[in-house]
Order: sequence, then structure tokens, then C-alpha cells
Amino acid sequence: MTPLTLALPKGRLFEEVKKQFSLKGMGFSFDNRKLVAHDASGLLKIFLVKNSDLPTYVNHGIAGLGICGSDVLYETGYKFFKLHTFDFGSTSMCIAGKKGQTLEKRGRKLTIATKFTRFTRDYYHSKGIPVEIVKLNGSVELAPVLGLTRYIVDLVETGNTLKANNLEIYEKLKDIKVHLIVNPSYYKLHYQAVNNFVARITE
Ligand code: PRP
Repeated sequence: MTPLTLALPKGRLFEEVKKQFSLKGMGFSFDNRKLVAHDASGLLKIFLVKNSDLPTYVNHGIAGLGICGSDVLYETGYKFFKLHTFDFGSTSMCIAGKKGQTLEKRGRKLTIATKFTRFTRDYYHSKGIPVEIVKLNGSVELAPVLGLTRYIVDLVETGNTLKANNLEIYEKLKDIKVHLIVNPSYYKLHYQAVNNFVARITE
């Protein structure tokens, strides 16, 4: 049997996916910094990729399937079928800044540092609020602390990173969920096998 190809993101989602798959008899591990692994049941060939690159692999059909947050999907703009929404990994996209200050929507542009430039632009555009966006790739919380921008738009899960840096949420903008996505052509070709896999992870 040819295994299904699945891209998994590095980072905090990874450990949760690993635990869940192990419970379903599809345990796996990546040895010695290897980036390709097979699961215990032989059903999956798994690629370990950077979170923000995951949609690119699925879009090109290199991985037929992927597990990815709606935040990353929105940024890349590719269209996939979402086959399942997981009950783990939910977070919120928020605008935040220094504790004790407020979100000042009237008057000048909002200056916002973020990894999520597309989301931030679209969100404030749709509300008619002018924004100036500074793209960062990580440790976004530093921006208001060091005075790069007054605001950040970022994911908040536990809130610990904001708290540790003396920042706070001003507004929650969107709920973010984790999805199983599939390349549409791959789904046509492997329809039954993919459906069996979905049944297995959702049972
Ligand atoms: C994410 C996010 C926040 C943090 C929020 O960053 O961008 O910085 O997690 O989580 P918390 O509310 O539980 O503290 P990530 O850990 O992915 O690292 P990064 O800063 O390199 O993007």
C-alpha cells in the first residue's frame, strides 16, 4: 500500500498531533533531525515542515494532506478542502500593546507589528481603519516593548508571553482553529484512502 503523504508543522502543534496520532495507533517519531518519518501502521509518510511553509507543500501536492492553523492558511491564500477541525490548538488572533495604554482608533494610523500581515491589513481595511504594518517573523511582543510599534497583532494562547512582557490584549479579532487540509487533486486520486484516514482520526 502506498502511504498517504502528510505535512506536519514544527512547533507547539507538533507534540499534540504526535500524542493524538499515537492514541489512534499511528505513532511516529523523527530520529536524528530527520524530516521524513513513517507512522507505526504504515499508513502515513510524514514530512516535518516550518509552519508557514506547510500550505506551500500541500498546494504543490508534495504533501497531499497537512495539519495547519487557520492563521497560516489565511496568510498564504491557497484554497484547500478542510476535512476536519481538531479540538486542540485553538488560539485567538488579538491586537495587544502595553499594559495600561488603550487602542486609539481615531486619528492617526494604527502602527502594528505582526507576522500576519495579510490578515491584519484585510481586517482593518474592512473596518475602514488605516494601518501601517511592520512585518516581523517572530518574538513580535518585543515591538511595543522596544518602541518599534505601538501595537501588535499576534496569536494568544495562554497569554503568558504577553503577561511576561507587560503587555495586554486590547481586542480579540478572530478565533483560530487547527484543520486537516487536503490538496483537491490529491483528494480525487486518493478519495477512499483519505476518507478512511479521516474516519480513523475522528473516531
Ligand atoms: C506564538 C505567538 C506568541 C505566543 C503566544 O509564538 O506568536 O508569541 O506563541 O503564546 P502564549 O499566549 O501561550 O504565550 P511562537 O511560540 O510560535 O514563537 P515566535 O515568537 O517565534 O513566533
